[in-house]
Amino acid sequence: MIPKNISRKNEPKRISLSYILVCIIAFLLGCLATASILLNIQARSTLHSSTQYSKEFLTETRCLETTPDNKNPSIHSILQNKRLLIAIAAYDFSQIPHLEEVLDAYHDVCIAGAAQVDVVIHATVPYPVTLLDLWNARFPCPHFSLQIVLKPASLRLHLVDCHRQLFYDHLQQYDLFIYSEDDIRVTPTTIATYCYETKRLEQYLTTTTTPTKYQPADFNIGIVRYEYNYPANVIIDDKTRHATQNVTRVYWEHSGFQRPVVPNAVKDVLEDDTLLQQKYFTMSNHHQGMFLATRELLTAWQKRCNFHIASNRPGKGAQPTEGTQRVWMSSQMLYGCRHGCCVKQLLPKDRSFGALTVLHLPNKNYRRVGKYRQREFADGTEVFQQPSSTLLTDMELHLGMRKVWPPEPQIPYRGIRMNIMIT
Ligand SMILES: *[C@@H]1O[C@H](CO)[C@@H](O)[C@H](O)[C@H]1NC(C)=O
Repeated sequence: MIPKNISRKNEPKRISLSYILVCIIAFLLGCLATASILLNIQARSTLHSSTQYSKEFLTETRCLETTPDNKNPSIHSILQNKRLLIAIAAYDFSQIPHLEEVLDAYHDVCIAGAAQVDVVIHATVPYPVTLLDLWNARFPCPHFSLQIVLKPASLRLHLVDCHRQLFYDHLQQYDLFIYSEDDIRVTPTTIATYCYETKRLEQYLTTTTTPTKYQPADFNIGIVRYEYNYPANVIIDDKTRHATQNVTRVYWEHSGFQRPVVPNAVKDVLEDDTLLQQKYFTMSNHHQGMFLATRELLTAWQKRCNFHIASNRPGKGAQPTEGTQRVWMSSQMLYGCRHGCCVKQLLPKDRSFGALTVLHLPNKNYRRVGKYRQREFADGTEVFQQPSSTLLTDMELHLGMRKVWPPEPQIPYRGIRMNIMIT
């Protein structure tokens, strides 16, 4: 299912004398370049050490710049050896602008240096070829692939299940797996922080001399979604743009708790392990709309709680006890203790909490909190006021350029693929 980029490299090459000569020259040039880079670094570090920095800052900088290896992961370059498989459930086109932002952000992960980023969209409606052509022009990273897998519309709410088998079928080919709904923007920062914090926790658990009953697979580094609380009754235009001056990020799904924030919305969860408790906390509401997991964690969770099987949300008929199927697959099956795997969601108490928060692109759910729930819309009779038809859309620009400057055909084709899967 997933394009194997290995096969691309297996084309036979004839090695000629001139080829060898070119290689030697290239090698010598490479040596020269490396030498000048090294000299430059030398010069710069002399410059650095003469500057007055505080002691703490220096330690900090050095810590972050450590070369990445398994012993000392560096958040700065941790994405570099990673192969990622990302599965997104997108039933139809109703959230298309959000999906576009989501895809851009995963492409950023490739540009940020990940070894491979393969994205699979599980959908039930075919994508127009012109749209795929437009999108191809957005994704130049050579280690990025996007595949749209069409599933029967009859799956309905169970479309969110499809990622589970995909992940376990390709467990050995990837290091990191992300399942997400189609409207959550996940930046390279969040993914690198997840990897870094996961490694840090694993290292602590496997090397600590303090007795602990916990294994790495008892935990998963969590994600918290945010929105922006734009005023609910104002359309931002040139006259009202100051209306955004008090707008901030809000953790709307964590708002329904009493204050103070600790220990209500967020709380300690490791009372039986003092050292871990100093470092980590959990959210009272574990819903994330997505999850990240390493290959090692997925492997362990398979044994722990049959995580490889997309089960039905618990509850009878229309009365789910732990939320909808979407909520079950993205969060509750993993974190829930009554029916799920009872893996503890952990977030670091020190500085990287914000790096583990992600934007919920529709920016609408915050309006569910509090008193304004007036809904004049959504009764089916609403008439949407359309934006001006003279606005230049990306599709119009794309097609306009294609018409005048048709591209060379790409053989073999390496762009977005669309497959139909009946099962
Ligand atoms: C922003 O907050 C300040 C202080 O509460 C208030 O005076 C001002 O009217 C607010 N502005 C907007 C646009 O809501």
